[in-house]
Amino acid sequence: MSDASPLTPSLSDVEFPKRIFSGIQPSGGMTLGNYLGAIRNWVAMQAEFDCVYCVVDWHAITASFDAPESFRTATREMAASLIACGIDPEKHILFNQSQNPDHVELAWIFNCVARMGWLNRMTQFKEKAGKNRENASTGLFVYPNLMAADILAYKATHVPVGDDQRQHLELTRDIAQKFNHDFERTVFPIVEPLILGAATRVMSLRDGTKKMSKSDASDMSRINLRDDSDTIAAKIRKAKTDPEALPSEPEGLAGRPEAENLANIYAALRGVTLEEALREVGGKQFSEFKPILAETAIAIFAPIAESLNRMMADPAEIDRILAKGAQRARAVSNPVLAELREVIGFVHG
Ligand code: AMP
Ligand code: TRP
Repeated sequence: MSDASPLTPSLSDVEFPKRIFSGIQPSGGMTLGNYLGAIRNWVAMQAEFDCVYCVVDWHAITASFDAPESFRTATREMAASLIACGIDPEKHILFNQSQNPDHVELAWIFNCVARMGWLNRMTQFKEKAGKNRENASTGLFVYPNLMAADILAYKATHVPVGDDQRQHLELTRDIAQKFNHDFERTVFPIVEPLILGAATRVMSLRDGTKKMSKSDASDMSRINLRDDSDTIAAKIRKAKTDPEALPSEPEGLAGRPEAENLANIYAALRGVTLEEALREVGGKQFSEFKPILAETAIAIFAPIAESLNRMMADPAEIDRILAKGAQRARAVSNPVLAELREVIGFVHG
C-alpha cells in the first residue's frame, strides 16, 4: 500500500470498455422471477456488448452442500436453461464459476478490502441467516465479496440483475473505490447496475409481500422454468388475489400487493409497461384474467423448457460448452490478476 493517502493525479478517470457480467446460482433451477428480473435482460445485452455469464456454484455452497450428483446436475441444468433462454455460448462467455480460480483469489483480496461494518449492513445476509446467525457459514457472510470478485475479475462495467442485488452492487462499487483509492490508481471500474423492465422484483404467488424465490419451501409460490403447462396454469389459478377487479391505472393497485404482482408479471411477459398492460386488462375479474396470464406464461416457457429438456439428454455436451467458456473466461481474468499481484506487491516468478 502506498503511503500517500490523498488522491493523486494518477487516480484518473479511466474509460473502461463496456463489458457485461452477471451470475445466477444453480441450486433450485430457474424461476419466473429470475427470468423476468434478470435473464431476459442478459439475453438482450448480447446484441450490443461483450457479455460474461456465470453459473455461480461457489455461491451456492454458502447455504449448504447438496449431494454431489444433484449439485452437478443443477449446474448443468442452469447452464442449459440459460442457453434455452437465448444465451449464445459461442458469441459470449458462459461458464461455471468453480472453473475459474481467479474469482477466489480476488475474493480473498476483497475479504481484506471490505470492512466488517459494510458486510454487517447486508440485508440479504440477515434474511438468509435468519434467527440463527451464529450457525450461518462464514462463506455466507463474505458472499458479497466473492460477488464483487466475480465482476471485477473481468473489469466488467455493467451488471444486469433483479432489484434484490442492488445493495450487493453498491458494495461492489465501495470495494472498487476503496481499492483504487488505497492504491492510488484506477484499477477497477465503478460498476453500473442494470435493473430493467416491469418485473425487477417478482413476488411469491402465495404472498405478494415476499420475493419469489427458488428456496421457498412452497413450490406453489413460484413458477419454475421446467414446470409443465398444466402445472403453470394450476399455480396461476391458485395464486392469491383479492376480490376486486383489476384497475385500469397503476394507482388502483396501491395496497393490493398480489394484484400488483400479477399485473407486473403480465406486463413483463408481454414486454409492455404496467400502464399499457392495465389499459388492456383493466376491469377484468381475476377469474377472467388468470387464464390469460397463464396462457401468456406458457407460450413463453413451454418452448424454452422443451429445448432445455433436449439439451439435458446430452450432459457431456453441456460440460464441453462450460469448459470452453471457462477457458475463455480465464483468458480475460488472468491478466487482471497478474496486474493486481503487481499493484499489491506479491512476489511472482
Ligand atoms: P439467484 O436466483 O438468487 O441466483 O438470482 C439470479 C438473478 O435473478 C439475480 O439477478 C436476481 O436479482 C434475480 N432474481 C431472483 N429472484 C428474483 C425475483 N423474485 N424477481 C426479480 N429478479 C429476481
Ligand atoms: N448474488 C447473485 C444472486 O443471488 C448471484 C451473483 C453472484 C451475481 N455473482 C454475481 C450477480 C455477479 C451479478 C454479478 O442473485
